[in-house]
Amino acid sequence: MSLGISLHQLSKRFARGKEAVSAVDGISLDVEAKEMVAFLGPSGSGKTTILRIIAGFERPTEGRVLIGGQDVTDLEANARGIGFIFQNYALFPHMTVFDNVAYGLRAKRVPAGEIPRKVAEILEMVGLKGVEKRFPNQLSGGEQQRVALARVFVLDPRVLLMDEPLANLDASLRTRMLAEIRRLQRHLGTTCIYVTHDQKEALTLADRVAVLNRGRLEQVGTPLELYEAPQNLFVADFIGQANLLRGVVKAVSADSAEISVCGRSLRVRRGRIETLKSGDAAGIAVRPSAVSLGAAREAFLQGRVESRIFAGDRMEYEIEVEEGVLVRAYGALPGRGFVFSEGDPVGIHFDPGETMAFPL
Ligand SMILES: Nc1ncnc2c1ncn2[C@@H]1O[C@H](COP(=O)(O)OP(=O)(O)O)[C@@H](O)[C@H]1O
Ligand SMILES: [Mg+2]
Repeated sequence: MSLGISLHQLSKRFARGKEAVSAVDGISLDVEAKEMVAFLGPSGSGKTTILRIIAGFERPTEGRVLIGGQDVTDLEANARGIGFIFQNYALFPHMTVFDNVAYGLRAKRVPAGEIPRKVAEILEMVGLKGVEKRFPNQLSGGEQQRVALARVFVLDPRVLLMDEPLANLDASLRTRMLAEIRRLQRHLGTTCIYVTHDQKEALTLADRVAVLNRGRLEQVGTPLELYEAPQNLFVADFIGQANLLRGVVKAVSADSAEISVCGRSLRVRRGRIETLKSGDAAGIAVRPSAVSLGAAREAFLQGRVESRIFAGDRMEYEIEVEEGVLVRAYGALPGRGFVFSEGDPVGIHFDPGETMAFPL
């Protein structure tokens, strides 16, 4: 049976010499039963520490952890009914696939008569029917990874925690394993927290993504919500690509703000307009897809093409708009539209419906 997880005001401070390092800072979050939530943040943002607190390997300095509504903060790790997959989850090399998968069932004292059926079922689910008698070194890397998944999912954990489980795999295997994890998780209805610093993994895998930065929860939402309606500059920058520019607020009305950027005046309707005040510094975020390039005259900003790369399905430009200030933009492929050369003067427009402003 899968259960929800509630984190209430979790904090963790570590002593470092005489100082206290705040690794986790007041995190509250509910993960629903059967939900897949990704914790996404840069290295050092507190992801592993939160996972270790949920698992019971670490005590929080403050706050509570509830699983299925039960407060488990003071329970031992092995009394919490949680499954884990961490980065280096090697198989037992001297055991067959069957024994690798059966290992946890035996440890849980599942009756011996039920084990073969459970092992066969899960191996079939991960597409490994018939390899029971092989040893790990007789399997491909991808097959070994699937055995590792089978070994955890066969235990039908109430909650499954994964900490960058695919970090050591090459890109194509990683993509396949992501799909595999997603399929198993959906099929079995396992409540999952998946920790990663890779936004692509988080966005493809999760029902909701919790964005962490310096131990704090910046925002939690569906991948689309985070992309379409970031609540701050960190999320705007971390999810998808964004050009970040500094501006000064000139005027604010009910649904827009007028912001001075690179000496020009820009009307912005998205972001956190309601928090801006005239005279404030503001951060502007514009996705490269919302930047259009054209003739230098009459444009919102003037710039010069600093670099141009062929990115497969489009050209990608970096345009210098002020000394040291680069704006990234996309353009048509040769033969499909105008192509700029490095050094060309160019005019830049920001799509006003796609430009966001946040307090700094
Ligand atoms: N056992 C520990 N002792 C001291 N500091 C720690 C310990 N574990 C983690 N930290 C610090 O806590 C912060 C968050 O670490 P961590 O949770 O591992 O981040 P992430 O998994 O997001 O990379 C980092 O600054 C790290 O150095
Ligand atoms: Mg970590």
